[in-house]
Amino acid sequence: MVLEKLMTILVLFFSVSQTLGQFNNHGHISVLVSKTGLEFVKDYLINEVISTTIPLKLPDIEKKVKIPLIGKVRMGLSNIQIYTVHVQSSKIKTGENGIFLSVLGATADLILDWSYTYKASFFHISDHGDASVKVKGMDVKISVNLVNDDGSLKIALLESGCTVKSIGIHINGGASWLYQGVVDAFQKTILSSVEKTVSKRIAEKMTKLDSFLQSLPKVGKIDDSVAVNLTFTGNPVLGDSSVEAGINGLFMPNGNDVKVSGSRSLSFVSGVNRMVAISIQQEVFNSATLVYFNEKRMHMVIGESKNGSVLSTSDWKLILPGLYKLYPNDKMMLNMSVTSPPDVKITENGIDATIQLEISINVQDFGKVLSVARISSVLNVACSAEIAKNNLTGSLRLKDFNATVKSSNIGELLPKYIQVATSTVLESLFLPFVNARLKRGFPLPIPHGFTIKNTEIVFVKNGVMVCTDIASYSI
Ligand SMILES: *[C@@H]1O[C@H](CO)[C@@H](O)[C@H](O)[C@H]1NC(C)=O
Ligand SMILES: *[C@@H]1O[C@H](CO)[C@@H](O)[C@H](O)[C@H]1NC(C)=O
Ligand SMILES: *[C@@H]1O[C@H](CO)[C@@H](O)[C@H](O)[C@H]1NC(C)=O
Ligand SMILES: *[C@@H]1O[C@H](CO)[C@@H](O)[C@H](O)[C@H]1NC(C)=O
Ligand SMILES: *[C@@H]1O[C@H](CO)[C@@H](O)[C@H](O)[C@H]1NC(C)=O
Repeated sequence: MVLEKLMTILVLFFSVSQTLGQFNNHGHISVLVSKTGLEFVKDYLINEVISTTIPLKLPDIEKKVKIPLIGKVRMGLSNIQIYTVHVQSSKIKTGENGIFLSVLGATADLILDWSYTYKASFFHISDHGDASVKVKGMDVKISVNLVNDDGSLKIALLESGCTVKSIGIHINGGASWLYQGVVDAFQKTILSSVEKTVSKRIAEKMTKLDSFLQSLPKVGKIDDSVAVNLTFTGNPVLGDSSVEAGINGLFMPNGNDVKVSGSRSLSFVSGVNRMVAISIQQEVFNSATLVYFNEKRMHMVIGESKNGSVLSTSDWKLILPGLYKLYPNDKMMLNMSVTSPPDVKITENGIDATIQLEISINVQDFGKVLSVARISSVLNVACSAEIAKNNLTGSLRLKDFNATVKSSNIGELLPKYIQVATSTVLESLFLPFVNARLKRGFPLPIPHGFTIKNTEIVFVKNGVMVCTDIASYSI
């Protein structure tokens, strides 16, 4: 019984993770917009469409109308404008066939100018004034599909439309027959003009949204020599009230088409209680260390401590007495090189990395730089992860290290001294230097105009998940 249950769970889990794996299509970063995220997107879009559309001008209308007892009257409506829209209820749904957004029972207010002229015996009679129109029961429906178009996201508009249930006209001034005349002649026209104009405007907005998505950069420049591949991989997956998109996500040399290797993607099966979950695979971190290593960015020569004071052998009197004896009060320089791309491993407990570091202790003696000792060290570090603005930042903490002396011109170094010298270099120079860079962090794939908040970082096997809410600051 228990075994059977376990098997069922395993089979279920296996099929779920397998499908998710296929969904991701080799992306190393996946961005999942959850139900609450879709709600945010929906409200954002509706506000954005309304605020950039209102006031919305409708075409003028002119008609010859037969009015009882008066005869033929030439009537015209002009300056027809929708100036407010109120949305009470809206919905967003996702399904296999697309994303459906609907606004139900919205109301809108219009203003317009009316005028008429007619001939009565020898006179031309004319009048003009204004009117207000209340639009009731406006429903807007849009269905779109999101597809990958050569590494960008494209919106395919499947259907869009606007229907209006009724309108109420209120005329200011005018003759007594005017109200009925306008209602009879123009009610249907105004109603269908609202429907047509709103539909057209929504289609235009979708085209704009599409160009916005297609203008998202495919490469995120980090600096002059390093970039991140932001190409979308595969088609976004529309789940049951969620949308997941895969991004290649690997680091690469900037302005250079060298391909960085990476293995098959995996996706994280996990509950998300934030608007967006950005899953970043271990490969992304390893591609970063590989690119920085290949770009020769993992060398550093340090001649000053963090507080800006020049390093001197006198500071190292107790650390390396042999050094001080031979080169008293000389300026010191530490030349540090990482000798292979650091290996990053992520588990449920956090991020760990192994770094191979060559340390050359140099002194400046009579104007000449001499290498007095070389130490080769392997250090294991733990990396914390934090969020600063829209960047994923971190800092390294030394877990343990070992060290061997490669060469020494200051006599044989006792293990005690190697240990202290290496630990001093790592703790007070190397790690602070690396952490100063990591503190700035690396940008998460968040479009311009949006910021993240209520962020939670979750470590899983082979990856990091950044679960976050989104806010817009464009307004
Ligand atoms: C960027 O990612 C896309 C999608 O995975 C891939 O086809 C392309 O080769 C990558 N570009 C580089 C320069 O690695
Ligand atoms: C700067 O730091 C070094 C060790 O890192 C220390 O010996 C020195 O006293 C400090 N100088 C100042 C001005 O704090
Ligand atoms: C630092 O070390 C690297 C590699 O060990 C070497 O190529 C470079 O010349 C050294 N630089 C200084 C200033 O000692
Ligand atoms: C230092 O540690 C690394 C990795 O743990 C190991 O491969 C290496 O043999 C160690 N070296 C020494 C001298 O202990
Ligand atoms: C975010 O990361 C980029 C790339 O490392 C850096 O240029 C930028 O200054 C960082 N932003 C903040 C607010 O630290």
